[in-house]
Amino acid sequence: MLSIRPFGPPDLPHVAGIVRESLRENYPSSLYIDIHRWWRDGFLIAENGASILGFLAAVVNAPSTARILMLAVREPWRRQGVGSRLMDVFVRECGMRGLRDVELEVRKSNVAAIRFYTRYGFQISNLIPRFYTDGEDGFKMRRHL
Ligand code: ACO
Repeated sequence: MLSIRPFGPPDLPHVAGIVRESLRENYPSSLYIDIHRWWRDGFLIAENGASILGFLAAVVNAPSTARILMLAVREPWRRQGVGSRLMDVFVRECGMRGLRDVELEVRKSNVAAIRFYTRYGFQISNLIPRFYTDGEDGFKMRRHL
């Protein structure tokens, strides 16, 4: 049974593991703690019983704009609606906080994620040359709520 709940500090090693596997990044623990402190309701965990399947982490970037920093679902659980559930709950949280726009960056080569975001009403607004540390370009995508 899939449920979406706020992140808590005991989730940290699981989230860091998903980030390593799915986003190929290695961030210090302090980053997750800071994101959690900045906006508790914008850091969401998808779980099935005791297993964490995915997460979404966002910050408030401007008075009316949220920025999704990370969204990932563990590989065996993709294409089963987990990312959609995370996005639905996140958009509801944005509404409750009075946020009107959501933005994010995605690797230019990440066709699956670009399709996912497009399905959720995001549009590519511009290319960001060499946005990623390995030199890959990123797309900025935005959605008006
Ligand atoms: N190819 C094409 N369309 C896709 C794909 C895909 N691989 N994945 C999702 N979609 C689209 C489809 O329209 C899908 O609906 P359908 O299955 O009925 O056709 C719809 O999105 C909803 O898919 P979900 O099952 O809800 O999405 P999922 O749980 O698989 O999560 C996610 C999508 C988060 C992008 C997942 O693929 C993932 O974790 N990828 C690796 C990590 C990643 O790239 N994250 C985004 C980086 S950008 C950032 O973090 C800001």
